[in-house]
Amino acid sequence: MNNQSLQQRRLAASPRGIGVMCPFYADRAQNAELWDIEGRRYIDFAAGIAVLNTGHRHPRVTQAIAAQLDRFTHTCYQVVPYESYVRLAERINAATPGTHAKKTAFFTTGAEAVENAIKIARAATGRPAVIAFGGAFHGRTLLTMAMTGKVAPYKIGFGPFPADVYHVPFPHALHGVTEQDSLRALDTLFKTDVDPARVAALIIEPVQGEGGFNAAPPSFLRALREYCDKYGILLIADEVQTGFARTGKLFAVEHSGVVPDLMTFAKSLAGGMPLSGVCGRAEIMDAPAPGGLGGTYAGNPLALAAAHAVLDVIEEEQLAARAQVLGERLTSRLQALRADVPQISEVRGLGAMVAVEFADAQGQPDAAQACAVQQRALERGLILLTCGVYGNVIRFLFPLTIEDAVFEEALDILQTCLRG
Ligand SMILES: Cc1ncc(COP(=O)(O)O)c(C=O)c1O
Repeated sequence: MNNQSLQQRRLAASPRGIGVMCPFYADRAQNAELWDIEGRRYIDFAAGIAVLNTGHRHPRVTQAIAAQLDRFTHTCYQVVPYESYVRLAERINAATPGTHAKKTAFFTTGAEAVENAIKIARAATGRPAVIAFGGAFHGRTLLTMAMTGKVAPYKIGFGPFPADVYHVPFPHALHGVTEQDSLRALDTLFKTDVDPARVAALIIEPVQGEGGFNAAPPSFLRALREYCDKYGILLIADEVQTGFARTGKLFAVEHSGVVPDLMTFAKSLAGGMPLSGVCGRAEIMDAPAPGGLGGTYAGNPLALAAAHAVLDVIEEEQLAARAQVLGERLTSRLQALRADVPQISEVRGLGAMVAVEFADAQGQPDAAQACAVQQRALERGLILLTCGVYGNVIRFLFPLTIEDAVFEEALDILQTCLRG
């Protein structure tokens, strides 16, 4: 078995709709390093798309999963409950912003968490409509696709989508959208498309992930909080990509001081095990009737065991502070390269959620450049992800537990690849 033969079998056995980035196949991985089935080593700056803030196979996480494996793997929480679920809900309720009474429900994927947040918001408000942002990514199910603000490749051929989902532009100075433009668009939406009294929820990623690592200005989040309070709309922070220390705080919304009514999270919560959740004000979370929420695998015991270990590691290894340090190191390297690489149009980030954007000589988004850097890096053993509505951004999602020497090695590769 080698990469080439597996590539042929993959193309014959699974659909092209599951787009696959790397032409090699994983054999094993440890912290920020991954080896393919031919023994080639890669530094993993994708981390399973923001899932491995605590790295591949953190010993604390694997031990916790192994210990749970020896007890039970599945009962379905709605049939026979277990303490680890209750304790993780308590931990999340205490760790999320706001001192009010909170409750948490667990699910399996990020999209499922977002879908359930909308179900809860509708049940609590008795209102149908949802507002999301251009460039947002909320998942691949039909409702979350409707909420996603990027057409290609997510929406093409999959409509019609659920109704009563509206978009307003996300502020992005580089692309000429100011905070005031976005707020004006919201006012216009309320005049031209939907009565605010019909809106259940407004959902925002505090830093857009797939959309290009665009951070919402804190003043913008505060303004949204005011709009929501004025019109009785619930504010949902989608922290699926930003959560669990990536931005230098446990949750990105903490940078603004804004307290959302509901928060969705997934990805790095459980170190590679599928686990997601919705946390929110207790009275809102209690709106759906018993049996209205849940799922056969929702709150899987192995994933919960991993999540407890992940939260311990984040605390003990001070990964939020580490995110800040690594983010600054990467940002200063990228900024220093701007003199040599004129295609870099912006270097931005919050904590370790750093990205570099490319434009051509005419100032137009340059997706080809982002792709070329990604390709060159892969050839040199560094796995990078692109993002952005125009596909012209490279984002960095290395494990926050990465060893200094491996991090520096990756930055050297990146520097070489950016220089061309
Ligand atoms: C902000 C955000 N929300 C939701 C999702 C969907 O998560 P999942 O792919 O686990 O369904 C993602 C995935 O990238 C995301 O980044």
